[in-house]
Amino acid sequence: MSNENVTIERVVAGGDGMARLADGRVVFIGGTITGERVNVEITTNKKDFARGNVVEILDASPHRVAPPCKFVSAGCGGCSWQHLAVAQHMPTKVAIVQEALRRTAKLSPDQVDELVKTGGQVSSQASRTTLRMAVLPSGKLGFRRAASNDLVETSPCLVAHDALNELIASAKVKNAAEVTLRCGASTSERGVWLHDEHGRGQITGLPSDVGVGVEALVHEVVAGVRLRVMMTSFFQSSHEAAELLVAAVRDAAGDRSLSGIDGRVIDAYGGVGLFAATLLSADVPVTVVESSESSCRDAVVNLTQHLVQTRDTSEPSEIVNSNVEQWKPVEAGLVIADPARTGLGPQAVSRLAATNAKRIVLVSCDAVAGARDLRLLIDAGYELEQTTVLDLFPHTPHIETVSALQRRA
Ligand SMILES: C[S@@+](CC[C@H](N)C(=O)[O-])C[C@H]1O[C@@H](n2cnc3c(N)ncnc32)[C@H](O)[C@@H]1O
Repeated sequence: MSNENVTIERVVAGGDGMARLADGRVVFIGGTITGERVNVEITTNKKDFARGNVVEILDASPHRVAPPCKFVSAGCGGCSWQHLAVAQHMPTKVAIVQEALRRTAKLSPDQVDELVKTGGQVSSQASRTTLRMAVLPSGKLGFRRAASNDLVETSPCLVAHDALNELIASAKVKNAAEVTLRCGASTSERGVWLHDEHGRGQITGLPSDVGVGVEALVHEVVAGVRLRVMMTSFFQSSHEAAELLVAAVRDAAGDRSLSGIDGRVIDAYGGVGLFAATLLSADVPVTVVESSESSCRDAVVNLTQHLVQTRDTSEPSEIVNSNVEQWKPVEAGLVIADPARTGLGPQAVSRLAATNAKRIVLVSCDAVAGARDLRLLIDAGYELEQTTVLDLFPHTPHIETVSALQRRA
């Protein structure tokens, strides 16, 4: 292993700082900030790049802060940007998105400057209403250490909603490796799901209001609409995140009420129907395409009005339990697509483009996968009008973007 002094050129997707070694290769170093000079110990040597750990910070950034969470010094790897001042999270995320649009979406610097906008940011503490946590040998809950399988007990967790911190403090788990905790910030309902392959998991120490198991559910109110969310269904990481995202998608869709949409709306990767239920009036025909069975069950409840009001028309609303890649496209006026971290990829892009929708709103939770999808959509005949960067995961490098695309004439 060798050491070298380097200067961090920028923070890249994934959250590490990037610098150049004397031999010209780039090196990626966690826990560093643009402009800092550090002594790095190289831990991985590849032909084109290296990875390393900070041995000493020689010139610290003015944006370096003491981690606000006490479990960072105990090794918790849950929030890897606690060394970076909260005020710098958004500008750093915007810079990562701009770089992805230049490199991966192949947009010009001028286009990127014009198209990328700064969106909303959730509170940096006590916001998360869904958390997946690991179970320590003691039965208490915690997170993995950075780059390790070792676990650290984390009670209270800085980013967890107070209603979840109560559970983290009191719960004791047996025979399960991981647990999902969820609360409805607007309803105070709480649920716990043990990830135990053989169904032998046990949890004790919970207050009596907490639902347990795969059939447990909570409700959350977003944009004034009450939504059912089972423990096994996907939901946004916090109530604030869901509100910000719904508002950003509404803005990108280009019609504030979305009642005058010309044609069907496709809510692809629709989850429990968050966007369809909050953005569309019940007479707008909508197709939710979603691979998870429990999310589809929730969507049927959350979209009852939509399913009833369009049942007797030639354009009924529907919930389709399918992968988007296998779904048979139908004509649409608007597509909203919110894929998992891996993005859409060519197969899903070709299905969505085959709807001939005038407008596509793409929600991406990975800057590089999102930029790859934008390139595919541009090549499929769409023009990018705007990409809004949201900070929905405080103290982490996770980035959410909402992009508006219009079909070229
Ligand atoms: C990022 S979540 C978005 C859910 C919803 N739009 C929301 O905001 O609550 C992605 C959703 O896509 C679903 N999913 C993952 N892969 C899929 C696929 N290939 N086809 C359809 N749905 C998929 C997941 O179950 C999850 O509900």
